[in-house]
Amino acid sequence: MEVKQAVTTRRNVKQFKPDPIERELLNGWLEAASYAPNHRMTEPWEILVIGPETRAKLNHKEDFGGAPVVIAVLSTPAQTPFDRDEHVMAVSCFVQNFMLLAHEAGAATRWASFGSSPRNREIMGVPEGFDVIGVFGVGYPAEVPAVKARTPIAEKLRELP
Ligand SMILES: Cc1cc2nc3c(=O)[nH]c(=O)nc-3n(C[C@H](O)[C@H](O)[C@H](O)COP(=O)(O)O)c2cc1C
Repeated sequence: MEVKQAVTTRRNVKQFKPDPIERELLNGWLEAASYAPNHRMTEPWEILVIGPETRAKLNHKEDFGGAPVVIAVLSTPAQTPFDRDEHVMAVSCFVQNFMLLAHEAGAATRWASFGSSPRNREIMGVPEGFDVIGVFGVGYPAEVPAVKARTPIAEKLRELP
């Protein structure tokens, strides 16, 4: 799959098949995702693989669409607000890499932002100073939602003198 095709056909999938994702495959996507850009090689991502007990406590309203794997992606603490922003930016690049790698392999991801609530941080044991970028269901899609049209980029683009 070409990069442009991967980028434009990746969807936030809501429902997954029960088929497992092998840990080796998952680890391979995470390993490759870590080639994301990151300033001063801080590599500010950390991943929690959510087991059944923790998943039940999180009690996501749709149980991540039945995804066989659930991970949380964290951004590590920083000394300054500027550095913290840079960490979050780098982890966002990591996440996009991960989502595209899964998509290329015929799998898919479902992004949930609810992991950042104080209750869910506590359930996952997220230490102070870490940002929860997202909690992701990962699996093979049972159905792929239709693409949501994007605003033509010309409307987002300004030329500076
Ligand atoms: C920071 C961030 C948080 C998101 N949180 C959620 C969420 O809590 N629940 C959800 O269904 N989708 C969430 N999404 C996914 C978006 O809803 C989805 O990407 C958007 O609808 C566009 O659809 P597409 O990814 O299939 O193109 C999130 C995406 C981002 C970047």
